[in-house]
Amino acid sequence: MELGKPVLFYFYPNLEKKIPWIPLLMGLPTNLDRLTELENEFDLKGGEIYIKRDDKIHHIYGGNKLRKFEFIFGKVKKKKKKGVLTTGGIGTNHGLACAIICHELSPTLKCQLYLFHQPLTWHVQRSLLLFNYFGAKIHLGKGDVGTFIKSLFFKVLHPRYFWMFPGGSPLFGIGSSLGTFGFVNAAFELKKQIDQKFVPEPDAIFIAGGSVGTAAGLIAGCKLLGLKSKVHVVAVYTSLTSNPSAVMKNANKAIKFLRKRDKSIPNIKVNEDDFVFITGYLGSGYGIKTSRGQNAVDRVFELEGHKKGFKLETTYTGKAMAALFDYLKQEENKNKTILFWNTYNSNDLDKYLKETDFQYKKLPKKFHKFYEESKFQCWQITNCPQDIKKSCPAYLNHEYRFWKFTDCMLDEQKQRKALEELKNVIKLEDA
Ligand SMILES: Cc1ncc(COP(=O)(O)O)c(C=O)c1O
Repeated sequence: MELGKPVLFYFYPNLEKKIPWIPLLMGLPTNLDRLTELENEFDLKGGEIYIKRDDKIHHIYGGNKLRKFEFIFGKVKKKKKKGVLTTGGIGTNHGLACAIICHELSPTLKCQLYLFHQPLTWHVQRSLLLFNYFGAKIHLGKGDVGTFIKSLFFKVLHPRYFWMFPGGSPLFGIGSSLGTFGFVNAAFELKKQIDQKFVPEPDAIFIAGGSVGTAAGLIAGCKLLGLKSKVHVVAVYTSLTSNPSAVMKNANKAIKFLRKRDKSIPNIKVNEDDFVFITGYLGSGYGIKTSRGQNAVDRVFELEGHKKGFKLETTYTGKAMAALFDYLKQEENKNKTILFWNTYNSNDLDKYLKETDFQYKKLPKKFHKFYEESKFQCWQITNCPQDIKKSCPAYLNHEYRFWKFTDCMLDEQKQRKALEELKNVIKLEDA
């Protein structure tokens, strides 16, 4: 395992003593894979597509949050906090990453997750069980704002907890830029890879924007380095957090914070010409499965992911990829070099989930309805007998369903009936 010091600290050594940081990541720099099948699919004329494999950045859970956490948890450790408290949807990847890192840094560090409703999916059902598996305490709130406020009450009553902003990014310009540094640093990592000729300098970088700290850090980093790459931020949350002004505020706040600690950092300001903000892929709300998003997830998996070992999902990366698909259809973009930043985990979590044995009743009672009101899996619908379930690859798995493999032991009539039912629960919004 290679635990590397941030590249940013090599460029600006003064920062090392002034910014909290702990090593959490492995395999740095993350790989850049070329997606030639996707290039062929869009009939590019000299253009190239690469993917930045942040999905493998941690040994348990990859994805963008881990880069943020090296700095945020650096502060948590420095302040000797008892635990970390944060908020997100009931399927939050941010919350899961937080639970996993608290667990890794245990026994001292506890995790409290305040969760609000998002569209119910198999991903949500899995996530809730995994929060519990990794030792997080979960609480249900009403709506994103209500839950946010509820979590603040907890913080007031438990001052020894570190209160992490949703998504690990400042909100409305308030809050720490530590998480954003993870992606300022990521831009410096990319620059090194460009200099070493692992990838040509991209014309466009595509990335999902939720709390937008990820995108803001990358934009700030690219501007500090004078890269020509234009970050294309695809909105995957409502305009409450995901908007161009929030991107600029977060980016400029991070630069200001860094410059305060090292005056040799260029005195620059990110403005709206420095990035492209793309809307129209969210659907009617956060976490909604859209037809374009699902199509992008499926197509990329068929063309590239199954060989290279990654898979997008429908809340963030699928929507960002759907926007990239539309960009690639335009004649003027067929000769561009594009980098898709993979912000989602691709490590196997099924093995942990199997240990939970789908015992959702071990979760607080308020969460049971999320398992009882909707069923998303073939084995949930067929009420598969326990002995069959245990030997079946479809059980608790992210990928397999009985129609994807040949040795389902149930009779054909039961299979057909379940398939019909599943068609009704897996709904896609036309967006
Ligand atoms: C897979 C994935 N991609 C992108 C994002 C968005 O990151 P940010 O909140 O920094 O915009 C998230 C946030 O949870 C995420 O889970």
